[in-house]
Amino acid sequence: MKVLVTGGCGYIGSHTVVDLLNEDYEVVIVDNLSNSKIEVIDKIKKITGKEVTFYQYDLCDKEKVEIVFARENPDAVIHFAGLKAVGESVQKPLLYYENNLISTLNLLEIMQKYKARKFVFSSSATVYGKPASLPIDETFPLSPTNPYGTTKLMIENILADLYQSDNSFDITILRYFNPIGAHKSGLLGEDPNGIPNNLMPYIVKVATKELPVLNVFGNDYDTVDGTGVRDYIHVCDLSYGHVLALKNKRVGLKIYNLGTGMGTSVLELVNMFEKVNNIKIDRQFVARREGDIDACYASNAKAKEELNFECKYNLEDMCLDSYNYVKNNINQ
Ligand SMILES: NC(=O)c1ccc[n+]([C@@H]2O[C@H](COP(=O)([O-])OP(=O)(O)OC[C@H]3O[C@@H](n4cnc5c(N)ncnc54)[C@H](O)[C@@H]3O)[C@@H](O)[C@H]2O)c1
Repeated sequence: MKVLVTGGCGYIGSHTVVDLLNEDYEVVIVDNLSNSKIEVIDKIKKITGKEVTFYQYDLCDKEKVEIVFARENPDAVIHFAGLKAVGESVQKPLLYYENNLISTLNLLEIMQKYKARKFVFSSSATVYGKPASLPIDETFPLSPTNPYGTTKLMIENILADLYQSDNSFDITILRYFNPIGAHKSGLLGEDPNGIPNNLMPYIVKVATKELPVLNVFGNDYDTVDGTGVRDYIHVCDLSYGHVLALKNKRVGLKIYNLGTGMGTSVLELVNMFEKVNNIKIDRQFVARREGDIDACYASNAKAKEELNFECKYNLEDMCLDSYNYVKNNINQ
């Protein structure tokens, strides 16, 4: 099977490409490198010993998308490409709506024309907004609280309408919780520029002394120690969920949470990072960030039942692998 992976040079996409190649899928990547580096392609080849076809195209350019389909004729598409920074989406909503929606519409239109029917979409737990109870299952009401999350919900709605109009489409929506960690090789991982939005990249930048201190946003949440609780999942467990989605025998429009089902507080994660990496992370409590919620973790029962999804890595692996990647790549 030939799989087109959009955003395949990015954090989750690159790990998924490795899994796909290891399972003998043929892979074509389209990525405009707006948030990734071309070196990732060589690293993927180094890890897998396999070739991958790469197009540096912007998916908002429909003619380019068509060129890829005309040349490659993929059987399936895994659509990771998109802008993902919540804070930036509040500052630049039009950029987020344009990039995330136009790229997806172009892809779906060209898929329809070329009769490619299998589509796996990267959605997010942010579509649930502030949940009324925990754990969150796929039937919970959806009410994102920022433009980034709204693009995800809008795309989910577009996919539902498309499926309604043409049920030969086979669509899987995966709602990710909080991916962290990195590939064991130390070659693939996440290393955002500037002050990161997310906790693990922030901790790692304090560990490498790029940032002086970890700001912990809020210590009066209604949680075990007052700090925010999230469902951290190793990126390699998350990426393999996409292979399982392709192998799934159920056809139609399916939605799955991908998380571990366990909540971890900010302090629990920082303390684990210190312990396994034997390093001190200076932290200070600062005011809550607007829009942050107390706690969020998944029910992954449906993914377990229907996809045979399982999490092989624990919090220790996540902390070790995140730091290992950044130490390996610190001067690149
Ligand atoms: N990382 C997370 O915490 C998280 C959580 C939930 C959902 N997601 C979603 O998963 C997907 C992948 O996330 P990631 O963390 O790997 O992000 P990432 O930024 O590392 O990867 C996204 C890739 O898409 C590319 N891209 C963006 N717009 C493009 C366009 N118009 N044309 C071609 N390429 C384009 C970027 O260059 C980048 O390589 C995104 O859709 C994101 O919203 C991520």
